[in-house]
Amino acid sequence: MNSKLAIVTGGARGIGRGCAHALAEKGFDIAIVDLLVPEMQRTQAEIVAMGRRVEIYEADVSDFARAQAVVGDIHAAFGRIDFLLNNAGKANPKGILEITEDEFDRTIAINLKSCFNYIKAVAPIMLAQEAGGRIVSMSSLNALSGGVTSAVSKHSYAAAKAGILGLTRSLAKEFGPKIPINALCPGVIKTELGNALTRAREPELVKGIALNRLGSPQDVAQMVVFLATSEPCFLTGQHYVIDGFQWSC
Ligand SMILES: NC(=O)c1ccc[n+]([C@@H]2O[C@H](COP(=O)([O-])OP(=O)(O)OC[C@H]3O[C@@H](n4cnc5c(N)ncnc54)[C@H](O)[C@@H]3O)[C@@H](O)[C@H]2O)c1
Repeated sequence: MNSKLAIVTGGARGIGRGCAHALAEKGFDIAIVDLLVPEMQRTQAEIVAMGRRVEIYEADVSDFARAQAVVGDIHAAFGRIDFLLNNAGKANPKGILEITEDEFDRTIAINLKSCFNYIKAVAPIMLAQEAGGRIVSMSSLNALSGGVTSAVSKHSYAAAKAGILGLTRSLAKEFGPKIPINALCPGVIKTELGNALTRAREPELVKGIALNRLGSPQDVAQMVVFLATSEPCFLTGQHYVIDGFQWSC
């Protein structure tokens, strides 16, 4: 029997890289989809050294046709798809007076339509598998509160991330027991690169977080692993906030 296979979009670096590591530690083989080839190769080498199989796919997640092709290639390579983590995303700091129509559309395409693209591609495969499958999509605290980190992200990003919650709830009903699907709403997560504005504001941000620190990719990854592996599973159509209880920023 092949190992379970997890697709991680945006797995080259940051939260996605942390989640790919954590899933590999739990025995998943990994397919990474990203634009950044050298960073994907680094993550691939790290996880291969853990004894797991990793394949990388260069693709823009907002491209529907490419998503169908990539998932077809992944299925052909691994013979199964057990878990999809829709993690790739990009914030947009522009306000309503500055943003162009193209920039708004692009933010929605990268953050929301990308989830549709990959869910549409994996759904027939997971529904046909005896074991079904599971899906988690990366929303944001911004979906619930608007521009929490307003220097980094504003309405277009928050709208896209809120759209993920509607997609998740609706698809939970369509998929039923075969494919539990959930979303995560991280607060401020400190990645290896991080955002310069977030880094500069860290002391101020931390004051508004009950647990007195920013989150890490590992904080998000432990929830991803739980939703990917917990048995029995009675969780679908939900979103989970991972923010150390952040009440002001
Ligand atoms: N870091 C945070 O504080 C935070 C908070 C809430 C939600 N999130 C969400 O978590 C996810 C990961 O964020 P991160 O902080 O690790 O960011 P990051 O920029 O470090 O990583 C994002 C990854 O997605 C990839 N990506 C971006 N656009 C892509 C595209 N069009 N096609 C393919 N790949 C693409 C990037 O190349 C990168 O590897 C994102 O969806 C982000 O919106 C992050």
